[in-house]
Amino acid sequence: GGDDSGSGSDSGSGSDKIVLGFSQVGAESGWRTANTKSIQDSAKEAGIELKFSDAQQKQENQIKAIRSYIQQKVDIIAFSPVVESGWDTVLKEAKDAKIPVILTDRAVDSTDTSLYKTFIGSDFVEEGKKAGDWLVKEYTGKTETVNIVELQGTTGSAPANDRKKGFGDVIAADPKFKVIASQTGDFTRAKGKEVMEAFLKANPDIDVLYAHNDDMGLGAIEAIEGAGKKPGVDIKIITVDAVKDGMQALADGKINYIVECSPLLGPQLMDLVEKVHAGETVPARVVTEETTFTQEQAKAVLPSRQY
Ligand code: AHR
Repeated sequence: GGDDSGSGSDSGSGSDKIVLGFSQVGAESGWRTANTKSIQDSAKEAGIELKFSDAQQKQENQIKAIRSYIQQKVDIIAFSPVVESGWDTVLKEAKDAKIPVILTDRAVDSTDTSLYKTFIGSDFVEEGKKAGDWLVKEYTGKTETVNIVELQGTTGSAPANDRKKGFGDVIAADPKFKVIASQTGDFTRAKGKEVMEAFLKANPDIDVLYAHNDDMGLGAIEAIEGAGKKPGVDIKIITVDAVKDGMQALADGKINYIVECSPLLGPQLMDLVEKVHAGETVPARVVTEETTFTQEQAKAVLPSRQY
């Protein structure tokens, strides 16, 4: 069975498929597109009925979607919270309705961890640290000031908060590293370009760009080229994600280093959905495994890169 013939909430469809309501952040980046595909493909593969909604980077839309999943009495709710704060009320509503919640990709700052069953996703602080580690190595033995600009992800989101912190903590050890400008580019290419243009106008002497994702870095590359400078050479660029377009720019020498963040969370998520549905205990935290890429490594893996 499994046919969903419209919006009627019939309880007796004869299908014993698990129904999963998933509220996605949006479609802001290449990473997000790959993540959505991974979730849709693996739900299909696992025989899980997926109700999917796109919140267009707005928390109010996610809260609405979650409330609608509660009303529809789905078996499980999973979501990737656009920002960290402000979830307690709606999560409490899900709990009262006895619908288990799984967090994917991004964390919430709720102190009551009984509001969700598990959280699967990357360690974003670690990603920021890896970006900082590369920079420290790159400038070993040099004493001159290194002027850094930072393109932050969506304001209030876990990856923006944590990638800023991890990076900041590492570079704080050496006062030659100076973050001279830091602003949000909302994880999009268009905003990355726009904000980088403003950075370039205000600061004639930028040495390094740290962008919280590939898309903003790719937008910034357009701005840098537009200003007559060479990305990767005049301004060194570090990004996070390692989606195909980012890896291509890395292989082309326009980005210098990428910290990987894997969007392929679907299979592990469906596994957790099945276990939670069966009443099995699951780990409170599942951390995604990921690596880093230099320009040489990007050239080597690019032909087989899936997304
Ligand atoms: O939450 C993960 C982040 O969200 C990705 O790094 C970014 O590209 C996406 O928009």
